[in-house]
Order: sequence, then C-alpha cells, then structure tokens
Amino acid sequence: MAFNETFLEELRARNDITEVIGGYVNLKRAGRLYKGLCPFHGEKTPSFTVYPDTQSFYCFGCSAGGDVVSFIRKIENLDYVEAVKLLADRSGMVMPDSGYDDSMLKTRNRVYEMNKEAAHFYFSQLIDEKNRHALQYYFNRGYTFDTIKHFGLGYAPDSWDALKKYMNEKHYSNEELYKANLLRKSSKGTFYDNFRNRVITPIIDIRGRVVGFGGRVLDDSKPKYINTSDTLVYKKTNQLFAMNFAKNHAEKGFILCEGYMDVIALHQAGFENAIATCGTAITPEMARTVSKYTDTVILSQDADEAGRKAVNKSIEIFSQVGIKVRVLNIKGAKDPDEFIQKFGADRFKALIEGAETDTEYKLFLAKQKYDTDTSAGLADYVTEAAKILAEADNVKRDIYASKLAEETKVAKSAILSESRRFQKQNEKKKIKQTNRQVMSMQNDADKINPQKRQYKSAAIAEERIIAVLINHPDLIRTISANISEEDFVTVFNKHIFKALCEHINQGKSLNMSAFGEELTPEEHGVLAGLEARGRTLTNPKMECLESITTLKEEKLKLIKPDLENMSDEEFRNLFSNN
Ligand code: UTP
Ligand code: MN
Repeated sequence: MAFNETFLEELRARNDITEVIGGYVNLKRAGRLYKGLCPFHGEKTPSFTVYPDTQSFYCFGCSAGGDVVSFIRKIENLDYVEAVKLLADRSGMVMPDSGYDDSMLKTRNRVYEMNKEAAHFYFSQLIDEKNRHALQYYFNRGYTFDTIKHFGLGYAPDSWDALKKYMNEKHYSNEELYKANLLRKSSKGTFYDNFRNRVITPIIDIRGRVVGFGGRVLDDSKPKYINTSDTLVYKKTNQLFAMNFAKNHAEKGFILCEGYMDVIALHQAGFENAIATCGTAITPEMARTVSKYTDTVILSQDADEAGRKAVNKSIEIFSQVGIKVRVLNIKGAKDPDEFIQKFGADRFKALIEGAETDTEYKLFLAKQKYDTDTSAGLADYVTEAAKILAEADNVKRDIYASKLAEETKVAKSAILSESRRFQKQNEKKKIKQTNRQVMSMQNDADKINPQKRQYKSAAIAEERIIAVLINHPDLIRTISANISEEDFVTVFNKHIFKALCEHINQGKSLNMSAFGEELTPEEHGVLAGLEARGRTLTNPKMECLESITTLKEEKLKLIKPDLENMSDEEFRNLFSNN
C-alpha cells in the first residue's frame, strides 16, 4: 500500500533517526555524525554511522544503509507497512484510514510474548525444588548454573496442562497458544501441553526474541527431542541456534555443530562462536545469514556416518555464498560436547587450530608456552618441539620437522639433529630403566630367599634343580639318587625342594595351586618364575645333573669338614659326582 507523501514526511520528522536508532544502538557523537557498533554484523570497532542532516544511516562494514523506515524494517524484521505502523505508533500518529490490516503484526507480536512468557515458566520450573531431577540432569552434563541462566534453559513438568494453566492465567487463549505450538490439540479438540517432562532449550533469534523451543527427554526414551514446529515467528530452516550470542564473536568464524547441547557446552568452555541448526541440514538461507558475519565456518559435525554425509552437503551450500569451510576431525568422542567433557577445552582449541594428531597436539601445547616472537622463546620452542619429535616415528618426525622448519625458519637439518640428540638420551634412559626393573625383580627374589646373596652360585644351582623337578616330576628318581634336601644350602630352596619331593612321592599333581597353603603369595611368585624358566630347558636331565654337581661343590666349599677324622670312604664321597 502506498502512503501519501505528507504522511511520510511527518512520520520521518517525528521519528528522528538518531533517536530511533539510539534505542537499539549505543551511539557516540563524532562531529556532525554519530557512530556505533553495527547491529547487523559483528564488529569490534564502530563502522556503523548515522547522519542526522540527511536522516540516514550507513555501515561501512556490511553496507547496510537507508532511512529510519528501512532501519526499522531490517532490525525488527518487518515489511514496509509494518515498519511504518511501528513508527507511527511510536510517535503517536494515526495511520491513514486505508483499511490496512495489521492483525498479522499483532498476532506475531503475541507469539513472541507468549514464547517469552513460556520460557519464564520453564525456567521457573527448572529451579523449583519439586523438579530437582531436571536441574540435576543439567548438572550431570556439566552445565553450570550461569550457563543455564545464560541460555535460559528450563524444564517442562510432567503434566498435561501445567503450561496451559499458567498461560491461561496470563490471558492467553488456548487457540493462541496452539498457534504458537505451545499447546497441542487432541482429536476431540482438547488442548494439552506440547512439552512434557522434558528439559527445554529456548530457541532465540538473532535479535534476542524467543521463537521456539527444543525439548529433550531426560533419559534414553524416544523421541529424544520435540521441537516447536514452524509458526508465524519460527521457521526451522532459517533458524540458527545461539546466533544471538555468536554474532558478536564472529572474528574467528563460526563453529557449526549439530546439537543444541554441543553449542551450550562449547559456549560454556569459551567458544562463544558456536552455533547449530535446529535439527535440520544447513540451508542456503542459513548460509546467507552466516555470510553477513564471517567468511569462515568450522564444521564440527558428529563423528558418525550421518555427520560425515552432512559435511559434504554443507560445504557445497557454504561455498555458494563464498564461505570457506574447515572440517574438524573429532576423534575419541561422538560430538563436541562429549569431546570437551573427556579431553577438556584446551584440546578442543588445539583441534580448532589444526592440531589433529597427538604429535600435533603436543607441538601446539609447546608453542603456547613460549613467546615465539622473541629469539629466546623461539629457540626454547624449537628445542621442546625437537624433544617431542624424538618420540614420534620416523615418518612423522620427518613430516613435522618440515612443517616446523617452515613455521620457525629454523633449518630442518638442525631440528632433526637436535631431535636425534633427544632420541639418544631417550635410549639411554630406557636402558637404565630396564636395568632398574631387572634389579628390582632381583631384589624381590632376594627378599624371599635372603641367603641367595651370600650363596649365589649354590642358590642358582638349587633353583635350576627345582625348575627341572617342577616341569619333569618323572626325573625324581634320578634326582633323589644324586641329591637330598640335606645338600641344599639355602633354607628357602631346601623347603621348596622338600615339599616338591613329598608331593611327587605322594602322587599328587604338581600344579601351582598344589602349594596354595604352604607358600606365601611372594614365594608362590618365585616358584612360578622357576616353573616358567624350567619349561624352556632343552636338555633338562643334563642341566639338572650339572646343577647337582655345582651345588655339591658349593656345599663342600661351605662345610669345613673335619678331614682328619673322616673315614676314607667319606673322604672319597666328598668328591664323587653321583
Ligand atoms: P543429537 O542426537 O546429536 O543431540 O542431535 P544433542 O543435542 O547432541 O543431544 P545429546 O547430547 O544427545 O543430549 C542433534 C540435533 O538434532 C536434532 C536436535 O536439534 C539436536 O540438537 N534432533 C535430534 C531432533 O530434532 N530430534 C531428535 O529426536 C534428535
Ligand atoms: Mn550430543
């Protein structure tokens, strides 16, 4: 509809542009004009300019511009007539009597009001003590109370009419509530709450108005989410969740996730540039909206098949509006929310900055530690990086050495030789470590058989005899013909040998548990070790006889026999081998 020129002139005169825009934007005078942060795109230095003399505005950042009517159209998302109506109302003017029907505008505003009221209700239910389990649900997911307030999260109680009653009291009719999709209608025509026993995420548009809700079950039941269906103020193919916050953090691009919960978790972890679609794939409309704020999108799709498919489609749609897409490779978690829970925000930051593998991640962390703008800092960084590369395999070491050389302008050969130095150190360290381990095993065994240290050769021979006997009980005759427990030097081995012989002679089977009660766990361990060693002997009988000889020789060294008073036979026996 066309308005006559006199009416429009008066409208503009009564709605001074600086005053009207001043209601939305914090304007600062700069000579003859005013400047402020553009409400239509994210910026940190003001490029949004208002010219009182021509009653116009222009943004040097995003090229938005026009007069007071076009400003209202744009910021309130209204058509021309609606914008004129708003300004007329604002300045107490009566619209020309032309049969203009503004019922649509009124209904829309009603829906915004209803949604806002419903969001209040859901929030109040969340913090109501009878619904503790709902708040508990959020806390269990790691969301803080600040986060809950920031996003206006809520809870729809387990009731058919809790919201209905509340809203009716505020004089909203069931038909109206139905139009806002806050109520549903049964086949009999009775109204009931759409969201019941669900945690609620309000969907807020770019200008901060509540346009709909996503309601999630608190357990694993289906459907997981119920969402507001399209209404006068909500079209899910146009809506990007958390854009109202993210638009002010667009410098590094947006992180696009799949789920509300991912976005909430990311914002809490400091990634306030995270957004999500509301359960749909990316649409060209969304891509256009995004392109007003940034030319970079980081796709943070779930790590499943559906997620991977969505990636290709999204890349195509974004590229049509000139947006560069980077894809995050989320490993070890199904989505960003879980990733942050498991690995923390720093690791997610590293992912975003391009660190995907472990080596990349370590290098990333190393770089954070130093001021690489100074020579000293750079040197420290390169040294630490070389140390990290020393632990990588050859291929990786070479690849990252090249990258590092490019990044730091330090010669690749220097990086590699530094890295080799660390490799050598590592090897030495490893050898020392193994030695230490062997020593400590030795010490354990020594504790159990403390005499071993003093009578080493004898103890080793004894152990070998025991080892053979456990594995080859059939050799008992040969063994007992040549040696008895009396010949054993160390008390512990003597005890074991005696027990073994008794077991075999009684025809008992010789598994480890046979000694269950007689031995302590530590002694058991030693015995098990001997059993294992005995298994690998190639010629047990021979080895056993050799050990018997050794043991006897050792024993002989120990006893200082009274040679003077010995019979000839006894004397000869001392040196006999069998
Ligand atoms: P996800 O299943 O990844 O949900 O679906 P989520 O938000 O990460 O939730 P949690 O972590 O399991 O609690 C991604 C998005 O798909 C839409 C929602 O918008 C959701 O955020 N969706 C999912 C639905 O609309 N309906 C469903 O039944 C499931
Ligand atoms: Mn999730």
